[in-house]
Amino acid sequence: MLGNFSYCNPTKLYFGEGAVKYLNDELPKYGKNVVLIYGSGSIKKNGIYDEVMTILNANGKNVAEISGVMPNPTLAKLYEGVEIARKAKADLLLAVGGGSVCDYAKAVSVSVNCDEDPWEKYYVRFEEPTCETLPLGCVLTMVGTGSEMNAGAVITNTQTKMKVGHVFADEKIMPRFSVLDPKYTLTLPHYQMVAGIYDIFNHICEQYFSGEDDNTSDYISEGLMRSLLHSSRIANRDMNDYEARSNIMWTATWALNTLVSRGKTTDWEVHMLGQAVGAHTNATHGMTLAAVSLAYYRHIMPYGLKKFVRFAQNVWDVNTSGKTEREIAEEGLKAMEGWMKELGLPMNISELGVTSDMIEKIADSTLVMTGGYKTLDRDEIIEILKESL
Ligand code: NZQ
Ligand code: ZN
Repeated sequence: MLGNFSYCNPTKLYFGEGAVKYLNDELPKYGKNVVLIYGSGSIKKNGIYDEVMTILNANGKNVAEISGVMPNPTLAKLYEGVEIARKAKADLLLAVGGGSVCDYAKAVSVSVNCDEDPWEKYYVRFEEPTCETLPLGCVLTMVGTGSEMNAGAVITNTQTKMKVGHVFADEKIMPRFSVLDPKYTLTLPHYQMVAGIYDIFNHICEQYFSGEDDNTSDYISEGLMRSLLHSSRIANRDMNDYEARSNIMWTATWALNTLVSRGKTTDWEVHMLGQAVGAHTNATHGMTLAAVSLAYYRHIMPYGLKKFVRFAQNVWDVNTSGKTEREIAEEGLKAMEGWMKELGLPMNISELGVTSDMIEKIADSTLVMTGGYKTLDRDEIIEILKESL
């Protein structure tokens, strides 16, 4: 542990079956005007909308709605939501959905009282809010992003083909409270469940594959990865296994609620590559990560060999006897590849609609991070994208 840090996570969590009833404890803390934010209809089909509305009505709230928040929420949709929240004089934003809905609600929160253009301010200049922000609560229905307990908000500008995440430093942007009921996730299609599982795994990898210090956060990460591998295999065989699904939900939150990045450097280049692919294809977030990961990790492995050896030993139980460091590291990535195939994840970007003539443009949309074992240049980005085809 070499780094100095501060740590504060103010989000209050209510976890477990039936946890939605705790909205009754939270709602009285805010004014009467609630803006309910949700996606394209899953919560109406599975009954979550009715449960939440009943509680809002019982608490005497005036409810306005922003519906139709799409996966990979767009800037145009953000402008629309800001207008609705302004008109409703919102006292509280209540996001009911997955990472897209929760991220979007954060973007509305920082934009409602902002006179500047939110894209320019938050996604080009990466500034912090200078206006009053709206409090946000979240009822999570899809597991993966960690948005329920972090200050990240990813928005896609379909005109410039940039999908950009802003992780706000101000902890006021984190949800004030989040309801995590694993039962709410049981209606997810298999595709979304495994996309979320890979998103979780990669969040941990992004924070793990960086730095060479002896860092407690890395030991926590290894534990989280082992738990996820165990539970994901059970959930993949039986999507209704509540114990596995609840463990996955809890792991997702810890994978990206800022804890495992404390005191260490982090990478995030897989997310930059994945987000660029997402900006050009609108593919599901976790799948874009899966499709570029192995090419990226094989590319950087020689620069961070010792960490990849540790990963192979501590996460994948690779038997090291008689093997070189390189062989051990490669076996770790092979084991990871096997697990990804077992889940049915896409192993290349062609499956997501990328064709070779798109590579240059996707490279143009890829932001370069400097915390990993190798800072990529443009040629390397193109090489990795071609390897991922
Ligand atoms: O829109 P509805 O009808 O609700 O359907 C959604 C959507 O189609 C569906 N779904 C959600 N809960 C369901 C359900 N279907 C059935 N039953 C349920 N219980 O699932 C689909 C995907 O939902 P979405 O919210 O898009 O998924 P996810 O949670 O993976 O969020 C992805 C977004 O989060 C961003 C991604 O870039 C992407 O835009 N991220 C946010 C991060 C953060 N805040 O820190 C970090 C991540 O790395 C990620 O970048
Ligand atoms: Zn992610």
